[in-house]
Amino acid sequence: MKRIGVLGFGRRINSVLKNLMSVADGNVSVVAFYDNSAKAVERISAEYPGIRVCSSVEELVTSPDVDWVFIGSFNAAHCGHAVAALDAGKDVFCEKPVATNRQQCQDIVAARQRHPDQQFVVGFVLRYSAFYRTMKRWIDEGRLGRLISMEFNETLSPFHGAAMHGNWRRRSEWSGPMILEKCCHDIDLLLWMTGSKPSRVASFGGLNFFTSANAHHNDLYPVGPKGFRYYDRGLATGFAVGTEHNITPFNDDKDTIDNQVSILELENGARVSFHFCMHSAKLERRFYMCGTRGSIRADVLTGTLEYTPVGWEPTSETVRPIEGDDHGNAELPMVQDVLACMLHGAPPPTTLEDGLRASYTCFGIDEARENGAVVDMAGYWADIKR
Ligand SMILES: NC(=O)c1ccc[n+]([C@@H]2O[C@H](COP(=O)([O-])OP(=O)(O)OC[C@H]3O[C@@H](n4cnc5c(N)ncnc54)[C@H](O)[C@@H]3O)[C@@H](O)[C@H]2O)c1
Repeated sequence: MKRIGVLGFGRRINSVLKNLMSVADGNVSVVAFYDNSAKAVERISAEYPGIRVCSSVEELVTSPDVDWVFIGSFNAAHCGHAVAALDAGKDVFCEKPVATNRQQCQDIVAARQRHPDQQFVVGFVLRYSAFYRTMKRWIDEGRLGRLISMEFNETLSPFHGAAMHGNWRRRSEWSGPMILEKCCHDIDLLLWMTGSKPSRVASFGGLNFFTSANAHHNDLYPVGPKGFRYYDRGLATGFAVGTEHNITPFNDDKDTIDNQVSILELENGARVSFHFCMHSAKLERRFYMCGTRGSIRADVLTGTLEYTPVGWEPTSETVRPIEGDDHGNAELPMVQDVLACMLHGAPPPTTLEDGLRASYTCFGIDEARENGAVVDMAGYWADIKR
């Protein structure tokens, strides 16, 4: 039996825990939590009768009845929570991203060096989907040959973007850069699929829609079936339930952005472009990779994976390894792997090192956007080697 304590008990970690308990056959239980929102404390206490409410991070991580600490707080708190849990001798499941700035990455690396034998799993859920695992297998089989260049993207629906811009994600002091908060998953997939990492990056991005000047857009569409205005739908129906930070997405109380295009050159010589937009009527989460022996096009939202080899009369292969959803039906496979790690000491399938590489790539991209410069990534990678 493994007993879990939770730091930051919001929508995401609740869903992870519900899925975990659904496959754990009574072998895990959630015993305690700490959340700094009174609303969250009230909601979770009602939802988990008998759970102990802690009054500090310290109390939670030093509780003798807690074996694993699950971290689902705002991004900027992850590092402090993870370091406290490691130093208290606990194993850790940490939601992405592991850190919101370089200093935090260094702090977490130092904590890891102090406690190399404790488990540390990062919640990069997309990696667990049959969709991306099939795509990775195709690449490892050599179907692409050597990767020459590629593009990938994440385009969010307007009400998804609205939910993000109306909650804590609007402020980098809580979320870090938006590319980190929203796209470190996609960046992790890039690094995993290519087995490489960027040597230099450039980027442009900004805030072009979710500002007070566009508030009138909420009046352009009829009120929806449940009585919500169009841009209030995400907030009102689920995203960021119950924290004190929810306001209209058309606010100027923010320093994060809603669209960005980036270019990356990888250490293996391939070139990459990445586009994200938080106000998209047509949704995609798509990869398009061109190699010396073939091309792969993959959109997890439709679940369609296509391969076309180079040749005189190429026959394309198209498979639908999953029914499409934003995470490629990866939630149950992820908690099954997390459970194996918890109960049987199986190696963590997505590690702190994966989390650090994705975070550093996002920091480099955001530095390039802020400074209007091409960023050499060598300095970031030196941090990990130290
Ligand atoms: N893997 C995924 O697909 C995925 C999806 C959504 C969110 N996430 C990540 O999960 C985390 C939580 O997101 P969410 O959507 O559940 O947000 P949320 O607002 O629903 O939940 C966050 C909770 O953490 C609490 N909290 C924040 N800072 C805290 C602190 N310093 N100490 C204690 N409690 C604190 C808040 O009060 C809230 O209850 C984020 O890091 C987000 O990036 C991951």
